[in-house]
Amino acid sequence: MKQKKSWWILVIVSLGVIIPFMAPYLTFNPAKSRAMITSTTLQYPILVTHIIFAFISLITGFLQFIDRIRIKNPHIHRYIGKIYVSSVFVSGILALVVTFYIKDFTKAVAFLTLAILWLFTCWKGYRMAIIKDFKEHRIWMMRNFGLTLVAVTARIFVPVLLLTYYILNGFTLPEGREKMIEEILNVNIWVGIVLNFVIVEWSIMKKEDNSTIRNNL
Ligand code: HEM
Repeated sequence: MKQKKSWWILVIVSLGVIIPFMAPYLTFNPAKSRAMITSTTLQYPILVTHIIFAFISLITGFLQFIDRIRIKNPHIHRYIGKIYVSSVFVSGILALVVTFYIKDFTKAVAFLTLAILWLFTCWKGYRMAIIKDFKEHRIWMMRNFGLTLVAVTARIFVPVLLLTYYILNGFTLPEGREKMIEEILNVNIWVGIVLNFVIVEWSIMKKEDNSTIRNNL
């Protein structure tokens, strides 16, 4: 049972994007934070804990899609699943707290929406596993992991948004470089949410179509 090439590409790209973003926070030095820190006693430790648990959810989430573990070793799948769900809950609740420190309204609402959807879809996926509705469990967990990956998509899309901003402003920077970066970091999470939502719903529909075709044959 060989793992698909697309899975490997997604793992490598995701780690390649996220690790450099995480690195400054693993120094536990608030001066190295890219996010604006107004409280080193509360906001910074909460942000760092959010990042550490989010990273655990990213790694364990990837492991859950390995067919050899899920199908051949369901007890390992259940064990990793519990770590995934716990880390999403811890990281998601801390993300809600961090959102209150964000000054820009558009950016704060994007993170708030993402955190609520992340927690909700995780709870639904977990509930479906408990009541042994494994078809729905898989669908909700695909939705949830799609949201985990918004952290990756939103960052990958920054260069595309930079280009879009430049083109839409007639190849000029009317309010300077700083303003351009600020505007882009206010919308990139929204772009990630919409894009990942479309991709996940499309693959769920495709899977359902394929199984309907198989059942009708
Ligand atoms: C999916 C739900 C997530 C939510 C709601 C969320 C929320 C947040 C928030 C509110 C911030 C602070 C942003 C700021 O103050 O400018 C942040 C930063 C950060 N998060 Fe998350 N996050 C999520 C997932 C993840 C994941 C899966 C990772 C991967 C490890 C991650 C890694 C980070 C990193 C590295 C930062 C620092 C950003 C920077 O330096 O620009 N987050 N997150």
